[in-house]
Amino acid sequence: MNLSERASVVLESLWLGSATKPAAHLYPHQWSWDSAFIAIGNRHHRWDRAAVELRTLFDAQWHNGMVPHIVFSDEGGEYFPNAGFWDVAGSCSPAPPRASSGICQPPVHATAALKVYEAQPGEAGLGLLRDLFPKLCAWHDYLHNHRAVGSDLAEVWHPWETGMDNSPAWDQLLNELVFEPSEVPPYKRVDNTLINSDDRPSDAEYDRYAYLVENLRLVGYQPDDPEQLPFRVRDVLFNSALARAEFDLATIAGLIGEDGSNRASKGDRISRAIEESLWDQTAGIYKSQNAQNGQLIESRISGGLMPLLVPMASDRLATLVGTLDRSFAVPSGDDGFVVLTVPEDDPGFDAVRYWRGPSWIQINWLVAEGLETNGQLDLASQLRRGIHNLVAVAGFHEYFNPRTMCGHGTDGFGWTAALLIDVANRTSPGQQ
Ligand code: SER
Repeated sequence: MNLSERASVVLESLWLGSATKPAAHLYPHQWSWDSAFIAIGNRHHRWDRAAVELRTLFDAQWHNGMVPHIVFSDEGGEYFPNAGFWDVAGSCSPAPPRASSGICQPPVHATAALKVYEAQPGEAGLGLLRDLFPKLCAWHDYLHNHRAVGSDLAEVWHPWETGMDNSPAWDQLLNELVFEPSEVPPYKRVDNTLINSDDRPSDAEYDRYAYLVENLRLVGYQPDDPEQLPFRVRDVLFNSALARAEFDLATIAGLIGEDGSNRASKGDRISRAIEESLWDQTAGIYKSQNAQNGQLIESRISGGLMPLLVPMASDRLATLVGTLDRSFAVPSGDDGFVVLTVPEDDPGFDAVRYWRGPSWIQINWLVAEGLETNGQLDLASQLRRGIHNLVAVAGFHEYFNPRTMCGHGTDGFGWTAALLIDVANRTSPGQQ
């Protein structure tokens, strides 16, 4: 079996019947941006599943347009925080249509929908786009109407919404939270009983995650006054994904005969706000902003490379590519390289712990996509080669230490398998 075929076996083992769980035990339900990446991989060999994956996720869309970050499945296993802990049915009015979490994840879904269409651009692809278009518009409008507080940039209210849960970028904000131990609801972690706890966030971080969920639950996950929330970040990855998704939604509109001009102008507005507010010239990278005081968060993390997802001005592009090369790229064989989540000289760097250093395949895939968007074709193909080499050596892990070429986190991870298939479809058949 070649690597792509092995990846298909992994995806098959994770299929829940109408969606894919990210991992057999560690993440036993449907996750929002995982599903988008899994659909991008499945479009090549299991187009039917790619379409069902996105439809199932959007069946759980809230009445206010939010797409929840976890959709709980009856088939799924034990997980913390489970549906009871989120209690969205008891806390929200109107109650969401499915058992879900109460927060969201980076909005990569219009980008995924367009790619799924491109793999089958006939009536089936157009039918999917027609069904998803109003839902994608409602999702983006939720972010503009409820999350863009006094800015064109959307805010995240929990580190899990950034996708980079325990990144060093959130350390200071989490450490500065003021709460009594009694304000942390009782909970029991499952994650660190399933895999090596050195690879997972700390207990102190989990206390803060649980405290922030409880804070949001108490306001039905829809605060009247978001400025009172204790964690508010204008995250650079989240907003770059949204800008790109708005342009992709404009393209989708054109394909199905809808007017997409307002989507493109929203994409322009967000891109302008990223350029104006999130660029750090001295560090040569974009940074997320603490929405409580408007200050940039000092950490350099791979999320700061994501403005590549839309076309950039040439001077900033050159500086950003220099930073990518100097601080994030690690060779991974065959003239390929991969990107770390945190530079090795950052004080918060940890080679194996979750979002504090290791390479993640979806981050690498997004950077490759962004390099291609900005005409850096050789670098994009070196990065895709690097992804392929890393997975070929280390397997379908959740994340990787590229210095040792070893996998970390869980094995048999959904988007690693899916994006390997996508990458293999863009490289020479010999590599598959
Ligand atoms: N990524 C989180 C976890 O580790 C939640 O989305 O469970």
